[in-house]
Amino acid sequence: MSNETILAKLFSEFPQTSSRTKRSGPLAPGVAFITGGARGLGNAIAVSFARDGARGVVIVDINQDTLNEGKKIVESYGTKCLAIQADVTKEEDIERAVAEAAKEFGRIDYAANFAGILGPMDQTSELPLEGFQKVMAVNCTGVYLSTKHELRQMMKQDSIEVEEGRVEQRGSIVNCASINSGMALPGTLPYTTAKHAVLGITRTAALEARSQGIRVNAVSPGFFLTDLLKPVVGTVVPMAFYDACETRQGRAAKFEEVGDVVVLLSGPRMSLVNGANLPIDGGFTINEA
Ligand SMILES: NC(=O)c1ccc[n+]([C@@H]2O[C@H](COP(=O)([O-])OP(=O)(O)OC[C@H]3O[C@@H](n4cnc5c(N)ncnc54)[C@H](O)[C@@H]3O)[C@@H](O)[C@H]2O)c1
Repeated sequence: MSNETILAKLFSEFPQTSSRTKRSGPLAPGVAFITGGARGLGNAIAVSFARDGARGVVIVDINQDTLNEGKKIVESYGTKCLAIQADVTKEEDIERAVAEAAKEFGRIDYAANFAGILGPMDQTSELPLEGFQKVMAVNCTGVYLSTKHELRQMMKQDSIEVEEGRVEQRGSIVNCASINSGMALPGTLPYTTAKHAVLGITRTAALEARSQGIRVNAVSPGFFLTDLLKPVVGTVVPMAFYDACETRQGRAAKFEEVGDVVVLLSGPRMSLVNGANLPIDGGFTINEA
């Protein structure tokens, strides 16, 4: 048998392309569930899902006022939006939020866990225990509880429709880490510790869930001037330092640049991407300057 015949035989037994049809239709036709979805990066994710054709978007947040605003923004794209007030640090709250989402839309296809706080920026020697515990509760325990209950829902459901020959996907979870998941800055011990921990949650859950057709990944945004950072930039964090961070990032970033990445990462065409931590930082972390 010639080399060409052997290759042709191998290719026919293990085709590298699943389908010969051209792609069309929305990128994200399923149901999205976003914690911290009322404003900032979480709301940008909700908007991206709406723009990419999600049939339902659920935003979960502790703040009822911003939830109302965030819901209006998502609905302005003609997408049904369910806003649920819940505290991600409370297991009964997140369990209820997942149940309400499933009751309304039947399933959760794409979860994004973006509820987070910055917390105190004291030096470690001066850091109050309650400040550390508060940040760990929201940014670490909240991500664990959200991942836990999202997984439970996803494990109950069938795959979303995937293109012919494609690996099935019962769900995707994207957890919010940060460049602080791999780097540190003086005065950020609780935040940096919690963001490192998000990788532990993500990687462990990713290995457990892959046999269930569920992927769990993290993203690490760089610098976005959201309401999380606004109170400290120009005060605790000198404006010149923030500007230098943006310079290292290449430029100022738009919130939608996180929203769009999360949509892309959540789709079944990312089938072999699991347990990853994707920087969304314009090259900040690989920049020596
Ligand atoms: N802004 C940045 O530069 C940046 C960089 C890297 C990572 N992040 C992360 O992005 C995520 C979103 O932050 P953001 O910058 O959009 O800030 P943000 O303050 O605008 O959004 C955070 C949201 O989380 C909600 N939230 C806080 N505690 C909660 C709780 N206990 N239960 C439910 N919801 C709660 C807030 O109400 C708010 O709507 C956070 O996890 C943050 O750590 C932000």
